[in-house]
Amino acid sequence: MKRKGRLFMRILMLPVVLGFGVAGILSSCGGGGSNSGSEGQDTVKVASGPTIADSMTNPGIGPVKHVELGNLDGVMAKKGQGIFESKCATCHKFESKYVGPQLGGVTKRRMPEWIMNQMLNPAEMIKEDPMSKALFAKYLVPMTFQNITQDDARAILEYFRQNDAK
Ligand code: HEC
Repeated sequence: MKRKGRLFMRILMLPVVLGFGVAGILSSCGGGGSNSGSEGQDTVKVASGPTIADSMTNPGIGPVKHVELGNLDGVMAKKGQGIFESKCATCHKFESKYVGPQLGGVTKRRMPEWIMNQMLNPAEMIKEDPMSKALFAKYLVPMTFQNITQDDARAILEYFRQNDAK
């Protein structure tokens, strides 16, 4: 009688044990590995638009059609640093993401024209440019125009180039 009782209990427990097992497997599949790899580097992939592979051929949308890059201009970079620190550092860092994407390495993953258009025309960029749009979808904060001139944007770009050359 005692033996049968224990067996009965085991049969009762079986679905419970199985249930936990399945839940365990499900939870170890979900989420888990999603943050692995290139954390902070926004290798944006869009269903119908430029991916990281062709992001260096997308100049973006805005006033800047062509930028001529020469040797690094330290004076210009210094000016760019000043503007960056007063107008952009509230939302951006170089070593990690913040309110907006991490900007270290940005000149290696975006065309100079695209970078300047993002600074000068962010509202249209996040509406129309597939890469900028995808960033907005991820960060959920719209980058706002900081009242900078095209020369200011060029100086900030030089500061980014200097940072990426280190
Ligand atoms: C209010 C916060 C905010 C400010 C201020 C801001 N940004 Fe942004 N920035 C963002 C966000 C958020 C994104 C991602 C796109 C979006 O959501 O609009 C972004 C995207 C960018 C990108 C694209 C990064 C990439 O990985 O491709 C660059 C470049 C950039 N910002 C530069 C600047 C510069 C330069 C300034 C200063 C003139 C500036 N930002 C000011 C929030 C900001």
